Amino acid sequence: MDPLSPLLNFWQWIRRNLKPLALTGLSGITVILFLWLFYAPPAAMIGPEQPIPFSHRLHSGVKLIQCRYCHPYVERSNHPGLPPVEKCLHCHNYIIANHWWIQKEHEYYNTRTPTPWVKANFLAEHVLFNHQRHIRYGLECEACHGQMETMDRVKGKHFYMGFCIECHEEKKVNLGCWLACHS
Ligand code: HEC
Ligand code: HEC
Ligand code: HEC
Ligand code: HEC
Repeated sequence: MDPLSPLLNFWQWIRRNLKPLALTGLSGITVILFLWLFYAPPAAMIGPEQPIPFSHRLHSGVKLIQCRYCHPYVERSNHPGLPPVEKCLHCHNYIIANHWWIQKEHEYYNTRTPTPWVKANFLAEHVLFNHQRHIRYGLECEACHGQMETMDRVKGKHFYMGFCIECHEEKKVNLGCWLACHS
């Protein structure tokens, strides 16, 4: 017997069944991809993992805490700022005080470690962006950040120039970008 014949037979079997085999393979891959995206979506799709799984949906969407309670400097400074852990503890000394994540807040507080929140939004460093002007004009946070009150994890985005220009054109405001926005 030709020593290669089992191999040849196998090859012919594959060729005869190419379509069903390809279909099975494809559906296998689809299922695996789906399960992977469902159970472990990459950070690029849902935003970076945070040291404490803080939820805007819960705090602003369900408990209706104002954005400005935690980001009070939006109108006054170029940097809206993220809340220090003391602010979390104003409530969480009383609310679910023994929760694992609240224990972690105490740990940060007691060791005077600023909570290492991971930044989700990015703007090129040479761009001068100032919340104050925009908010005084009456723009809602949503115009640029989307509906934060529906998000558990913040996905954030890269703000590119097209995004600024589009709205500035629409609102007929300063387009002299080299003077206004670029340092
Ligand atoms: C109870 C406090 C709290 C409230 C209320 C709150 N935030 Fe936040 N916000 C945080 C914390 C903590 C972070 C950092 C962790 C994170 O990104 O989830 C953050 C992050 C953000 C960021 C992303 C910053 C970045 O670039 O990484 C934006 C934008 C933001 N908040 C907007 C809002 C808006 C708009 C509202 C109102 C709908 C709001 N926040 C209400 C505490 C709060
Ligand atoms: C104005 C009050 C208030 C402030 C300020 C506040 N929280 Fe909360 N937080 C709540 C309430 C209310 C709940 C819901 C408690 C419950 O489930 O009964 C909650 C729930 C949570 C939970 C539990 C979520 C879960 O999945 O069970 C975490 C974690 C949390 N907060 C983190 C934070 C962090 C971090 C900060 C500071 C950036 C913060 N909170 C600031 C009121 C507050
Ligand atoms: C005109 C667009 C615009 C509006 C309106 C706006 N933001 Fe922003 N926001 C931005 C941009 C752009 C950045 C990124 C800035 C940077 O990284 O320096 C940002 C960043 C932030 C950050 C992160 C700051 C940090 O230190 O990392 C917070 C928090 C935030 N915004 C909160 C708010 C809140 C709350 C409101 C509403 C009261 C609001 N923003 C309205 C454009 C906007
Ligand atoms: C949703 C609309 C909107 C978006 C998005 C937006 N802007 Fe604006 N911007 C405005 C409006 C409206 C004003 C005028 C405010 C006023 O008249 O006080 C303004 C004013 C400004 C000014 C002051 C201009 C001057 O006359 O001195 C600067 C600088 C600026 N924006 C930069 C930016 C940058 C950088 C971005 C992108 C990261 C951006 N803006 C995104 C609406 C927007």
